[in-house]
Amino acid sequence: MRYFFLILMVIFLGEIKNAKGETTVSETQPLMTDKSLGNCIACHALPGVNGTQSTFAPSLHDAGDKWTREELKQWVSDARKINPHTLMPAFGTTKGMQWVNSNAPILNLEQIEAVVETLSSWRSLPLTASVRMQDELSPLTSISQKPSTHSFLTDDLLELQNDVNKNTIILWTAQGIDNWNKATPGKSCSECHGHIDKMRNATSSYPRWSSFKRKLINIEDQILICSERTGAPFKGLESDEVISLSALIHSAGKGVSLFSRANLKSNEELKNELLKGEKIYKTRIGRMNLACTNCHDQKVGQHIREEVISEGHPAGFPILKMSWQGMGTIDRRIRACFSGVQAQPPSAGSPVLRQLELFMKFRSSNTLIEGPSIRR
Ligand code: HEC
Ligand code: HEC
Ligand code: HEC
Repeated sequence: MRYFFLILMVIFLGEIKNAKGETTVSETQPLMTDKSLGNCIACHALPGVNGTQSTFAPSLHDAGDKWTREELKQWVSDARKINPHTLMPAFGTTKGMQWVNSNAPILNLEQIEAVVETLSSWRSLPLTASVRMQDELSPLTSISQKPSTHSFLTDDLLELQNDVNKNTIILWTAQGIDNWNKATPGKSCSECHGHIDKMRNATSSYPRWSSFKRKLINIEDQILICSERTGAPFKGLESDEVISLSALIHSAGKGVSLFSRANLKSNEELKNELLKGEKIYKTRIGRMNLACTNCHDQKVGQHIREEVISEGHPAGFPILKMSWQGMGTIDRRIRACFSGVQAQPPSAGSPVLRQLELFMKFRSSNTLIEGPSIRR
């Protein structure tokens, strides 16, 4: 019985301070691990946390050795004062930030003090062996040299992707074929367009400038526009009909290059839109104050929690994403990246999304269309 209490006490104390007097993550956990709060764990490895560790930024296991409390406070509240090019979000202010999903700083003064308290207790010496091993193992272990967007899938997802009998992509393309041939009050898609194979080059010529609509349209917009010609219009860009037909048309285009740069020839509007897309791609947004390029060019191969950042070649759309429990378009994925940096996501089909898609496809124009793919 006495031993029982002793063990209980050890476990209890271990929760609060470990043997060397460090504050453990569990106490400040929500502040440092919650997505809507500090979310430090999305970018940094934290001592005492097991499993996949983020490698976007240096491990914080020795933050207390490297920096004084004042310096740590500066790092957390506004690291731009330490390094103007920093990729570390400012948690104590939203000054100078664009497109934020709220004007309030992510953490208030009291919360910042609590985080600094924890950071300054983290010293390198008392690290447990397991954490030290993870710090050594985590960087780069999952970088692959393969250029394909698939290279960032884990082995089991790749296996699922390649096994047409196990994954449900085929259900979506089958639904696409049904919709392609479906009798409607007007003509069916196939009555105007013939066999789906004729759509082989369709994907690579989108997004394109519509002189009629005076805006960029992508393949999903085209499907929606055409559904009005069938006499049975689909209900919006993210309806199952549009997604299934997009999956079918992307399958038909497998192996064709993602974007034909020839489309830009003497098309001034398209060039203008491309420049706008490039500008947004390189603009820091949201309360995390990060641009697309900061992750998809500068941090390729690094971990954000369990995700590995890819170059973002938009070759595998639409994606069957496990966490969505369904298939989604490039719009939905880009909007998720907006939310990820705590920026106000643009609505589906808005010009900003088309401009970004155009720029990303231009940037990857030598990549080949892979067709609908599995994602984590
Ligand atoms: C979006 C990713 C991201 C998030 C989220 C993030 N950081 Fe950082 N942090 C960085 C990067 C990148 C650096 C590297 C320095 C730089 O870019 O200037 C950094 C540097 C630091 C440093 C200096 C580390 C050193 O070794 O010199 C500290 C301390 C720090 N961050 C603390 C935090 C804390 C505490 C949180 C959560 C409240 C947090 N960070 C959240 C990206 C992030
Ligand atoms: C009444 C005839 C008609 C019907 C029905 C029709 N389309 Fe179209 N479609 C067109 C025309 C005309 C174009 C040329 C672009 C434009 O004018 O919008 C086109 C263009 C397209 C393109 C771009 C092809 C390329 O190579 O650039 C796609 C993709 C497409 N349609 C898909 C569909 C789908 C999916 C359906 C069924 C929901 C459908 N269409 C129904 C007439 C039709
Ligand atoms: C904080 C880092 C970060 C920022 C900033 C970011 N993304 Fe992402 N993005 C990710 C992660 C993580 C994934 C999922 C893993 C992957 O596919 O790269 C992802 C995935 C994607 C994908 C899907 C790639 C695929 O094949 O599934 C696209 C497209 C994309 N991002 C576009 C953007 C755009 C456009 C922006 C700017 C508005 C942006 N991202 C900003 C981290 C980021």
